Amino acid sequence: MSLRELLSGVVPDKLSAALAVLLCSPARIVSVDGAWVMDDTPPLAENARRLPLAHDLETVGYLETTAKDEARVRAVTIIMESFMRSGARYFMASEMHIEVVKSDYEELQRKHAALAESEARYKALAENLEARVKEQVHTIASAHRQLYQAEKLASVGQLAAGVAHEINNPIGFIRSNLGTAQSYVQKFQSVAEPVRSSGNAALVSAWQAADLDFVLEDFPSLLQESVAGADRVARIVSDLKGISSVDKTEDEIVNLNDSIRSACNVAARQINDHADLELALGELPPLRCKAGHLGQVFLNLLLNAAQAMHKRGKIRIQSRADNEQIVILFSDTGCGIQPEVLPRIFDPFFTTRDVGSGIGLGLTVSRDIITAHGGSIEVSSELNVGTTFTIHLPIKQENR
Ligand SMILES: Nc1ncnc2c1ncn2[C@@H]1O[C@H](COP(=O)(O)OP(=O)(O)OP(=O)(O)O)[C@@H](O)[C@H]1O
Ligand SMILES: [Mg+2]
Repeated sequence: MSLRELLSGVVPDKLSAALAVLLCSPARIVSVDGAWVMDDTPPLAENARRLPLAHDLETVGYLETTAKDEARVRAVTIIMESFMRSGARYFMASEMHIEVVKSDYEELQRKHAALAESEARYKALAENLEARVKEQVHTIASAHRQLYQAEKLASVGQLAAGVAHEINNPIGFIRSNLGTAQSYVQKFQSVAEPVRSSGNAALVSAWQAADLDFVLEDFPSLLQESVAGADRVARIVSDLKGISSVDKTEDEIVNLNDSIRSACNVAARQINDHADLELALGELPPLRCKAGHLGQVFLNLLLNAAQAMHKRGKIRIQSRADNEQIVILFSDTGCGIQPEVLPRIFDPFFTTRDVGSGIGLGLTVSRDIITAHGGSIEVSSELNVGTTFTIHLPIKQENR
């Protein structure tokens, strides 16, 4: 312990002056190296004596004085050393006090930090909870909308499934009978020439009266048209079933061009009444997706395009793909959308249709479905010129 520390608690101001009175001569206290002097007492005369001041058997400083009286000098040395002993006790006590206060303060700081941290954690948790609630509400609302449309389409699906069941059998034997009929016609055709060149006047005139040459010529194309018609009926029923099977929740791997063609078949009547359809479908990679749901999107966009035609126009569907995404564009030359309503067309229940002819969910559900596939749908439109919807769908590696 240094002299300065030993005297820190007990030495009053102007100690040297008091010692000088006791010693009847000038005095001052200095540290061992002489660097520290007790108070502002100036250096003493050359002949001053230096008497060691010991603490714990170690010299910690000196009493400098010019006093000659040995008894006084010894008494003052003893007083100084006892000052130092009580100073040492005071110093240790105050060190301990500081240590305790410091550790209390540190403990307080630790508790404060822990409290602040737990407060921050609760705050983050609350914010997180709020975001999750918002997200849940959004998911529920979107599921609800999808359910609404899904129910609508599912009832169509059920109807289609029932109709398909009823139609498939008759269509099957109609198709097969038409094939047989085609072979029968060939047999008739094979006897035409022998009849004509038979020389049997009655037979030839009966042949001509019945206009059998024309019949034999026309029959194959009638049958061909009927075959095409029967095939078309079968295809429409199966497409309708595919598109309305929105209750199917498993992913399928499909080529979206097929889904687009199916949607076109289902909407053929509405399209043909109002517009010419042009397909420019590029090569697409197979995509893992909810095919029924995407078919529903294509159908919604096609019906909207058909409904936008005030006079006969054109609907064009393009598809293309690069390594990362599939892009599909539905363009029409319909009435277009007013710029002020354009930002609202994806809103639930936004419709410009007459009461009873549209509920304004088609685009909302379409966007929900595209978003659920990680994609996006954008619109651009010019009033009285037309509208284009652009769909981007990511092709993730695991989606192939
Ligand atoms: N291709 C388009 N051309 C012009 N307007 C369009 C087109 N597509 C959508 N719209 C506008 O956006 C609105 C919302 O379309 P959305 O498909 O969501 O609902 P909707 O067709 O009115 O009703 P539904 O629920 O039967 O589909 C339509 O009422 C129409 O005003
Ligand atoms: Mg619609």
